[in-house]
Amino acid sequence: MSRGRMIKRVLIAVSALAIAGAGALAVVWGQARLDTAGKLRFERPLRIPPLEEGRPGARGERVYDLRVQQGTADLGADVPARTWGVNGPHLGPTLRVRRGERVRMRVRNDLPEPTTMHWHGMHLPAVADGGPHQPIGRGETWTPTWRIDQPAATLWYHPHPHARTEHHVARGVAGMVLVADERERSLALPREYGVDDIPVILQDVRLDDEGNVSKASISFSPIGHLGDRMLVNGTPDPHVVVRRERVRLRLLNASTARIHDVGLADGRPMTLVATDGGLLEHPAEVRRVRLSPGERAEVVVRLRPRERLVLRSHPHGLGGDPWSRRFAGGDDRLDLLQLRAARTLERSPEVPERLAAGPPEPDPAGATRTRRFELSGRTINGRRMDMGRIDEVVRRDETEIWEVSSNSLHSFHIHDVQFRVLEIDGRPPPPALRGPKDTILFEGRSTARLAVRFTDYADPRTPYMFHCHLIDHEDRGMMNQLVVTPP
Ligand code: C2O
Ligand code: CU
Ligand code: CU
Repeated sequence: MSRGRMIKRVLIAVSALAIAGAGALAVVWGQARLDTAGKLRFERPLRIPPLEEGRPGARGERVYDLRVQQGTADLGADVPARTWGVNGPHLGPTLRVRRGERVRMRVRNDLPEPTTMHWHGMHLPAVADGGPHQPIGRGETWTPTWRIDQPAATLWYHPHPHARTEHHVARGVAGMVLVADERERSLALPREYGVDDIPVILQDVRLDDEGNVSKASISFSPIGHLGDRMLVNGTPDPHVVVRRERVRLRLLNASTARIHDVGLADGRPMTLVATDGGLLEHPAEVRRVRLSPGERAEVVVRLRPRERLVLRSHPHGLGGDPWSRRFAGGDDRLDLLQLRAARTLERSPEVPERLAAGPPEPDPAGATRTRRFELSGRTINGRRMDMGRIDEVVRRDETEIWEVSSNSLHSFHIHDVQFRVLEIDGRPPPPALRGPKDTILFEGRSTARLAVRFTDYADPRTPYMFHCHLIDHEDRGMMNQLVVTPP
């Protein structure tokens, strides 16, 4: 073969490969976008996790028995899904705790591997926190105890084993914690659990042919593995019948990676009443609530008799360039839950004008120092998680300003505290970030100033974690540790 012909053949082969490659990429690109808007039939009644109020313990405390176990669940696939759960095959009970009371959690691990149980958003001693330093071996029971001392809020629990949190949360080990207090009880808000106060636990899952929760997918996602199947409280294709005019939805994004812009399909506003750590000072009318993994929000929705209203996850558009955005789920539109109003609706009072007694703690006025944190790659201040290294030492009862900067899509979660967002990129925060927060999303290159204060518990030997709550990032080391020392 002449040299010229050879070059020509090589060129043809190379371009054929390029075209095939581009074609394959186009298919991957097209398949990466999910759109279920208007396509669901909402056939299944929404599962309401059982409410667990605890049983009286020997020392006047309230005891909660939690057994973490394997099981199978119908998640809407052709085969049963192999899942993990708490006191059941998938997800766990909703724990109701009261401010001022002591609780004791008895967490038994019947999984085939060690786990932990973390109380996300809870103010508690580091030894009770359930991070990677409190492993529960197979067959073991862990019994942390503490006094509930924080405002009414929607918190949650989930495992936090070192570098393996995604594996546990994605299989379904998660549940809500409702903190009740006097102030919240005195307000005219919907609060009958499962009737007009409804848990809405959002998760996406991907199952393989055998029903295993899988991470396998050609994924270019910058934020971690996305599922292709939406679940609310573990229910695929769900609806809930509403019999009162106003319903309070406690939204929890318990996904490992997916970010949700939650709103109503018809665009009507919702009344935002609470964020991660409890009530806002004043309710806010919003059309969308953006929730990254770990974040919560409480909204009150008003319905008309007989109508059907769909809660939808709208395209959030985050991720940066179009490629990253697509694989970060930024173009996805997902129907979540249908609210079916009864033929007649019981009246409910209007949402009060005043909710919390004031802006969230702490007041930045007395701040003693500023700490800076840089989120970049899979590191915080250039460091990856090291179980044996303490990254920050914080003095108890001192208010600090934490200036957190990110160069791309990440989140930032601090254990033990609720913080106040002071500024985002030099501007005051939007309504959805004006309440107490423990997790905040960085939508791209951005800086947030937070007022942070650790109170009550000092323990120089046991660290609290702070980390990116995109769980794949967290598992890859985007987590640091701090200890709180006495003043
Ligand atoms: Cu939701 Cu470190 O946790
Ligand atoms: Cu946490
Ligand atoms: Cu991250």
